[in-house]
Amino acid sequence: TTKSGSSMKEGIALASRFYHHLLMHTEQGREAYEYARHREVSEEALRRFQIGFAPREREALSLLLKNRDFDLREMEQADLLQIPEDGHSPFDRFSNRLIFPIWDQNGKVIAFGGRALDEQSAKYLNTRETPVFKKNEVLYGYHLARAAIRKQNFAVLFEGYMDVVSAWMAGVENGVATLGTSLTSGQANLIQRLSNHVTICYDGDAAGQKAAIKNAETLEENGCQVKIAPMPANKDPDDYIREEGPSAFMTNMIESAQSVISFKMSAYRKEKNLKREGDRQAYIEWVLEELTTVRSPVEREFYLKQLADEFSVSMEALKQEQYRIYQRVR
Ligand code: CTP
Ligand code: MN
Ligand code: MN
Ligand code: MN
Ligand code: MN
Repeated sequence: TTKSGSSMKEGIALASRFYHHLLMHTEQGREAYEYARHREVSEEALRRFQIGFAPREREALSLLLKNRDFDLREMEQADLLQIPEDGHSPFDRFSNRLIFPIWDQNGKVIAFGGRALDEQSAKYLNTRETPVFKKNEVLYGYHLARAAIRKQNFAVLFEGYMDVVSAWMAGVENGVATLGTSLTSGQANLIQRLSNHVTICYDGDAAGQKAAIKNAETLEENGCQVKIAPMPANKDPDDYIREEGPSAFMTNMIESAQSVISFKMSAYRKEKNLKREGDRQAYIEWVLEELTTVRSPVEREFYLKQLADEFSVSMEALKQEQYRIYQRVR
């Protein structure tokens, strides 16, 4: 019934099989197949992630759903197709795109992301909010990664579909994605149920790095311990893996992920010139202020020691200064 969404999910599952079949086994899907292979997505990954192709002809899926007696109004509610007001034929929502199915926690397909095959049109088109799909409650790849997140006792959080897929090919089986840069408490909670360790591996651009810090806070509020991978400014995880290879990705990104405070310290240092006395002073004060948010006394002491060594100041002076700042922030 519509209420439980089960017939809606059946229609979506049919669409997913249809798209995947077109990509894997038909001439129509050839260009998209080549696009995927050009991006170095393996056959195995295409199957695991059930990647597909939505054909250029905008009636193909509508006709299939109609022939199988699906209620087209319901399929419109699922955002698989659109029904024009003027009595024209229904037409498919996705056209000429590489399709990524998005699953619920039980592995049922509930939505799609469609990537343009060229850089002309809107890069990604996603299923809108529907009775079965609330974007901010879902993590891409969650059911596929669940066992590995439990077993390895950490999750890797990415932004995009291709990051999860490439990382899986590189041996990261515990990867999930937010499908953009925002993360809700609900999504944080999905991870926290499996493990309370998360490594954020977002894009190296300003938007990605800013979101990494914001999402780290949300994850921490939901009981997770967070690290952030040091992604270079001009790359995302998928680029990094293809350019530097799987083992460099493991060593330099996943295993080199930093605590949130060190990550913020590196970011701050990139903007300032610590050879200048004024900047140095401002940096020390900023770090001391940031440290008031670090709960572990051992971790606080560790960073204080680091500051003391780097700038040749006594621990005592730093502690006095920190006390002064603590009075102020409180
Ligand atoms: N996204 C989206 N709609 C957009 C742009 C992005 O839904 N218009 C989501 C997609 O899930 C995308 C993720 O945000 O995978 C990250 O966006 P971005 O970094 O811009 O895309 P990439 O995943 O790097 O895309 P690609 O590698 O295919 O260029
Ligand atoms: Mn097949
Ligand atoms: Mn991005
Ligand atoms: Mn990206
Ligand atoms: Mn990318």
